[in-house]
Amino acid sequence: MSRRLEKRTALITGAASGIGAACARRLAAEGARLLLADLDGAGAEKLAGELGQASVQADVTRAADIERMVDAAWERWGRLDVLVNNAGIVQVKPLLEITEDDWDRIMRVNLRAAFFVLQAVARRMVRQAPIPGSELRGKLIHTASIAAYRGGQPLLGHYSASKAGLVSVSRTAAQVLAPHRITSNCMCPGAVDTPMWKQIDADWTTLEGWERGEAWKRRTAGIPLGRPEVAEDLTGLAVFLASADSDYMTGQAVKVDGGLVMGD
Ligand SMILES: NC(=O)c1ccc[n+]([C@@H]2O[C@H](COP(=O)([O-])OP(=O)(O)OC[C@H]3O[C@@H](n4cnc5c(N)ncnc54)[C@H](O)[C@@H]3O)[C@@H](O)[C@H]2O)c1
Repeated sequence: MSRRLEKRTALITGAASGIGAACARRLAAEGARLLLADLDGAGAEKLAGELGQASVQADVTRAADIERMVDAAWERWGRLDVLVNNAGIVQVKPLLEITEDDWDRIMRVNLRAAFFVLQAVARRMVRQAPIPGSELRGKLIHTASIAAYRGGQPLLGHYSASKAGLVSVSRTAAQVLAPHRITSNCMCPGAVDTPMWKQIDADWTTLEGWERGEAWKRRTAGIPLGRPEVAEDLTGLAVFLASADSDYMTGQAVKVDGGLVMGD
């Protein structure tokens, strides 16, 4: 392994499962020092133990938890080079049935919390010295989704809106933070085989009266690259966005979806 992230420090939210966990494994293999944060503190602690890294239990919807999580990074390293702002939830529901509570729950985690995590980290990043050997002070990476595109998914109206909002917030941050030499970019996964998609399949098949697994089969059937996506498919992009190779790139949203959504 090339160890492209030797000694870089990174905080990953939603690190106990799926895409966050895959990114944690890969970033660690590339030499990064990690703080793994998750609502599921035991899960984050277990993975951190396996990887020889640190963990913190945090519910990113709570301001006090965000502060404690960000404090933990600065207490450990006195700085933070990379944020992987990845925690998220989903709900499958027809547009006409989404309630105010449904809307608020999805937005609270996927957009509101992602915004305030970004803000808490950026407030400190602007005051730190550049990353050793780099012209940048820090790199913000957010996990959005292809659901942010093509008018969203029919059964994911609020989720799609939250991810479109996250792309927007990331781009505003990219503008505002560019003079401080901090970049902000989004990863947009397609349909990834993680516990989140197990939930989507369970809820969607129940709604349609299909066999379990049928929604996943239909969603992944037409993928141009010919196989379903796994969490590890995102890790090359995560390493690139965390590394010096992407230093001149900001305000972008990059799809990694096997070709499901081509173009904008
Ligand atoms: N799986 C997909 O197909 C897919 C596609 C596009 C985007 N995404 C996005 O990727 C990200 C990761 O999803 P995944 O598929 O790995 O899901 P996952 O359910 O496997 O993992 C999500 C993690 O986030 C954590 N989390 C949830 N709410 C939290 C909170 N309030 N505070 C702290 N942690 C919290 C969970 O405990 C879990 O460990 C999410 O933002 C999701 O929206 C997933």
